[in-house]
Amino acid sequence: MPNRFLIAPSILSADFTRLGEQIAEAEAAGAGWIHVDVMDGHFVPNLTMGPFIVEACRRATQLPLNVHLMVEHPEKLLEPFAKAGASHLIVHIEACQNIAGVLAEIKRLGCQAGVTLNPGTPASSLEAALPLADIVLVLTVHPGYSGQEFIGREVPKVAEIRRRLDQLGSPAWLEVDGGISVQTICQVREAGADAFVAASAVFGHPNGIAAGIQALKNAIIS
Ligand code: DX5
Ligand code: ZN
Repeated sequence: MPNRFLIAPSILSADFTRLGEQIAEAEAAGAGWIHVDVMDGHFVPNLTMGPFIVEACRRATQLPLNVHLMVEHPEKLLEPFAKAGASHLIVHIEACQNIAGVLAEIKRLGCQAGVTLNPGTPASSLEAALPLADIVLVLTVHPGYSGQEFIGREVPKVAEIRRRLDQLGSPAWLEVDGGISVQTICQVREAGADAFVAASAVFGHPNGIAAGIQALKNAIIS
């Protein structure tokens, strides 16, 4: 199990009338990254945020902006998101014809390069991407919405990717996204994940954002 870990609150569940304040609160409470869920209404049914929101987030925090691109043809959007201030650009393997080229382009733009895969897409689909990726994101819900139930059958895939990254000697982060809560975070941590996205467990916590982040951290170290 890696000895580092971080929480990446997803602003998908934030109160957008107070987005800057909510991001600042997450930063003060010890968030590691801010996760931004970009959805195009095609790759997933929902439609969310564009570079304009990333640019606003950039002004609200010093934290890295971990931008998850749930879009078709992500290669067309890399430059606008990089210019808006994204720190990490994460593309779906299902949406890329030439993953090596897309990851190289992300790095050329000065961002860290991430790759992700839907539930049901096998770990083997990442074989060409793993040696090139700075971040590997495993989805534990079908992407599109926050507040969905964690899909436990994806946990062995996290462990499989951890083994492969270790075999490669890769320093990449292994991030998980979807249904992460105090009940589910330990299983993915034990499977080898070291970065944890959470939308509803942070922004929807009944005692506030800081309590949500602290509860996840406590669950990991307990
Ligand atoms: C799902 C998104 C997730 C989502 C997670 O499509 O990629 O980042 O915001 O939401 P929770 O943590 O509520 O499952
Ligand atoms: Zn996400």
